[in-house]
Amino acid sequence: MRFYLTTAIDYVNSRPHLGTAYEKITADVIARYKRLAGIETHFVMGNDEHSQNVYKRALERGMEPRAYCDQMEQEFRAVWSQLDISFDDFIRTTEPRHRTAVEKLAQRCFEKGDIYEGHYEGWYCVSCEAFKQEKDLVEGKCPLHPTVTPEWIRERNYFFRLSKYRDRLLRHFAEHPEFLQPDVRRNEMLRLLEGGLEDISVSRAGQLWGIPLPFAPDNVVYVWFDALINYAAAVGYGTDERRFSDWWPADLHIVGKDITRFHTVVWPAMLMSAELPLPKQVFGHGWVNFGGQRMSKSLGTSLDPSDVAARFGPDPLRLYLVKEISYGGDGDFTWDRYKERYNVDLANNLGNLVSRVSAMADQYLGGTLRPTGDTSPHLRDLPNEVATQYRHAMNKLELHAAVAYVFRLIDATNVHLAETSPWLLAKRPEARDRLGQVLFDAAEAIRLVAVLLMPVMPSSCSEILSRMGETRGPSTLRLDIDGHWRPDGTRTIRKGAALWPRTEEGVPGDVRLKPDAQARLKPGTTYGETAAREHKMDETTAAPAETPRISIDEFMKVELRVAKVLEAEAVPKSKKLLKLTVDTGTDRRTIVAGIAEAYQPEQLVGRTIVIVANLQPAKLMGVESNGMVLAGSLDGGMPVLIGFDREVPPGARVR
Ligand code: MSP
Repeated sequence: MRFYLTTAIDYVNSRPHLGTAYEKITADVIARYKRLAGIETHFVMGNDEHSQNVYKRALERGMEPRAYCDQMEQEFRAVWSQLDISFDDFIRTTEPRHRTAVEKLAQRCFEKGDIYEGHYEGWYCVSCEAFKQEKDLVEGKCPLHPTVTPEWIRERNYFFRLSKYRDRLLRHFAEHPEFLQPDVRRNEMLRLLEGGLEDISVSRAGQLWGIPLPFAPDNVVYVWFDALINYAAAVGYGTDERRFSDWWPADLHIVGKDITRFHTVVWPAMLMSAELPLPKQVFGHGWVNFGGQRMSKSLGTSLDPSDVAARFGPDPLRLYLVKEISYGGDGDFTWDRYKERYNVDLANNLGNLVSRVSAMADQYLGGTLRPTGDTSPHLRDLPNEVATQYRHAMNKLELHAAVAYVFRLIDATNVHLAETSPWLLAKRPEARDRLGQVLFDAAEAIRLVAVLLMPVMPSSCSEILSRMGETRGPSTLRLDIDGHWRPDGTRTIRKGAALWPRTEEGVPGDVRLKPDAQARLKPGTTYGETAAREHKMDETTAAPAETPRISIDEFMKVELRVAKVLEAEAVPKSKKLLKLTVDTGTDRRTIVAGIAEAYQPEQLVGRTIVIVANLQPAKLMGVESNGMVLAGSLDGGMPVLIGFDREVPPGARVR
């Protein structure tokens, strides 16, 4: 089995930012997962160099454009290497192999009668490198680049008969619902196609920077027509037909939501015209914002991924981006949130687990673990369930959900330790076998966690595996063999320094809640049945000063407990309500919470929450709710769920 995976190729007028890095990291997670699944994978990235902005930037720097692009290639490669991106090939649009492919494909479309000479007059946004219609502009500006004034251009151009392919494209979308994912993008594109297509310009007149059109060399190929062909060029189109037939069509193009139109309308039409097979799937991921704002150099909201990776290494960043952003949706990065997740997920949770288990194995059993009894009930069925759910989620590109499942196993391992108390067993010589099994189970769970998280945190997981006694190299691991519970074998456990020491320091460039927003934070807001039923968040605000005080006994009547979200789904026909299935430590129950506008269901699975556990049941939109979820909120704003700065197991009382 083979898998050909690509990302968008980047404009090199500036260094990568966290948004462009997000795309490469998530594609890398997919590539590493495919390899782990034993699939021969070819992962291609690259640089898009024939853009006018690249040309301008080179001139501004007093450099020859090609020399500037060479320099930027080194900068890009250095960032990708720092982030542990395991691409197999890196293509640049100024390379001869790419030029040959562009000439060949343009010539084929021309000979097919799909490229004709015409006249273009209209707007052009240099930053998008796209022709814009009046209706696309907002107050005369491109909505994506409000600081750049669009140019009005009039030129003789060559046009591609995009309109001719509309019906075939619609048919392709209908016959292959998987072609464009997630569904929200597919629906956008279907609406666009249903509205009709116009032919597009595929050349620019009077420009020096670009690939000359083979049949009209006074014109250069329009940068998008040029760039899209990189995917075919990288696997030999025009230069190595055998290799091309081995790898084409691509299995998956990962691109941002702003450029799905180019990839699912223009590119397939070009391939149809050239009579080549279409890529099997395009995935249009969302935006990563910085402190709630679109990443932009001019607005000072751009973040250099090297600065973030320099902080705690590449793996915490990779984990944050994959776990905190539901893949396909938009997400946000703030230094505060990043530091918090680092402390909770890595320092306190996984890192602490690895340290405790290896230290106890070393201290109590000389570092050698072997099975000496039955697997702990906490870990009897869950690990293999998690491994299966993880694979399903990964195969559906629900990367965030896959990671959330693995964190359920981490949580279960912590619960297993808390409930079996190996430190007490170690004091009783007659409990030595029990102790051996308890630590063996914990080490085996950690091993499985490290295998499953390997695509996300490659270097940390290699280290964890080696500490857990795995002797095989990470590249030889296979999901079929290593990705499930192994009840036997002897493990030689190694202690080591803390993988992720807890951080308390502030982080430079913190984007914090503005003081006025903080002042508006209302203590005591709850998001459960009352808030949801009434849809009036204001009723649940802080108590006025004259409210009579209550006794501790009265307070203790309210049973606040830690719970873990097992499943989450939207309540049909409700904008605000989510139906949660939670583990309360003693039972599994349904709670309906009014948090749908702030959280996607997938973001909640695996999450630790606080509930009011002893409320009388109430029906909301036909669903019985057995409790209430606690959250804080800004005045009339979005609910923010209460969390902990270290792991607390379900069932723990909150007081
Ligand atoms: N050169 C074109 C792509 C040509 S592909 C044949 C281009 N380049 S880009 O440098 O502007 O963007 C590269 C990728 O990064 C695109 O997929 C784009 O959607 C993505 N992102 C740019 N900013 C982003 C965020 N803030 N967040 C997530 N992805 C973002 O477009």
